Amino acid sequence: MQTVVSIVGTRPEGIKMAPVVQELGRHPDRLRSVLVSTGQHREMLDQVLRLFGLRPNVELNLMRPDQTLARLTGDLFHALDAVVREQRPDWILAQGDTTTVMVASVVAFYHRIRFGHVEAGLRTGDYQRPFPEELNRRIADLAASAYFAPTARSAAALRAEGIPDGAIHETGNTVVDALLQVAARPFDWASSPLSVVPEGTPFVLVTAHRRESFGEPFRELCRAILEVAESGEAQGIRVVFPVHLNPNVRAPVREILGGHPRVHLLEPLDYVDMVQALRRARLILTDSGGVQEEAPSFGVPVLVMRDTTERPEGVEAGAVHLVGTDRSRIVASARAHLSGPVPSGAARNPYGDGHAAERIVSVLLREAAE
Ligand code: UD1
Ligand code: UDP
Repeated sequence: MQTVVSIVGTRPEGIKMAPVVQELGRHPDRLRSVLVSTGQHREMLDQVLRLFGLRPNVELNLMRPDQTLARLTGDLFHALDAVVREQRPDWILAQGDTTTVMVASVVAFYHRIRFGHVEAGLRTGDYQRPFPEELNRRIADLAASAYFAPTARSAAALRAEGIPDGAIHETGNTVVDALLQVAARPFDWASSPLSVVPEGTPFVLVTAHRRESFGEPFRELCRAILEVAESGEAQGIRVVFPVHLNPNVRAPVREILGGHPRVHLLEPLDYVDMVQALRRARLILTDSGGVQEEAPSFGVPVLVMRDTTERPEGVEAGAVHLVGTDRSRIVASARAHLSGPVPSGAARNPYGDGHAAERIVSVLLREAAE
């Protein structure tokens, strides 16, 4: 019996690790699966785990309001070290590039435990963008012993860094597994928070939270959204913006967009509601990593308000457009899309086929048998 400790901290890790943890649970004869929540996010992570029917075996509750990176990192090292001493895992798994993941990988390394990096090999090549995630994922890939690369491109990036072929497994991105599972659930628009917009009304969905934009660039981004709302009046277009709980996001969003009659500022959406918002939006404006990977499934165009992306596959497929953080460019691109044809619906997703979690767990089972 092998013990696999899966460590999650933030909302996207919850969403992308949920299918893996569910799959680990399907092999109780061979794997003991332990789910650890660091609580780097509190409300936003709880929401997701509940939705997937997952209950952490260990809850660390580390989030502090407006936490600094260094303080969070220090707390994570202490707390995860204690968990590893107690659980004595054969494997530690974590997904992505947050502070939780970076620390999990280094703690695994210190204890000489195999670290499996889910969503390995994403790169922008610029340590400032996204900040601090580009550094986090590189550290995780220095410490890892198994690399679950979502795409051919991420697998190639790892090979180019000298990672041996046998350690790289191209699996697809688990976000597609999560998305397909949740999109199949029944949904009632009228009783969801999306009902602030009458069903069938065209809307632009917005999400934003990147640290490298905080301050004036983020305010410019909010002003761009305001202009998009203003210019969409004739077409009856609304803006739906579920606002991230980071106080550096909430303050400028409220100040610049609050009270506008066609801009609906919502609390973070449950993933079930979010998936329907993604599916039914006329256009998506975002700086999120996960949203770039999800939207192509529904054929809804995405404008990415960043200067670089570690997910170029969507851009190459024509589903995602990098528009940067410049206000006039965001507005011009949004207006062009809103006056173009209505999105045609479901499309092939370049990030995965919905079976990534099975592939990841089959690698662990194979290695356990060796
Ligand atoms: C974090 C990750 C980022 C990821 C994002 C996903 C790091 C450095 N950043 O950014 O990579 O893309 O999550 O959303 O790991 N807060 C709450 N409740 C919550 C969540 C957050 O109140 O449920 C507030 C708290 O005041 C907290 C602050 O948001 O201190 C910032 O949270 P933190 O996890 O440090 O950074 P994010 O910006 O959320
Ligand atoms: N998401 C959600 N509710 C929201 C906003 C986002 O469930 O109100 C989901 C979104 O669909 C995606 C994930 O959260 O799966 C992305 O999280 P975020 O943008 O916070 O982080 P990133 O992906 O940029 O790391």
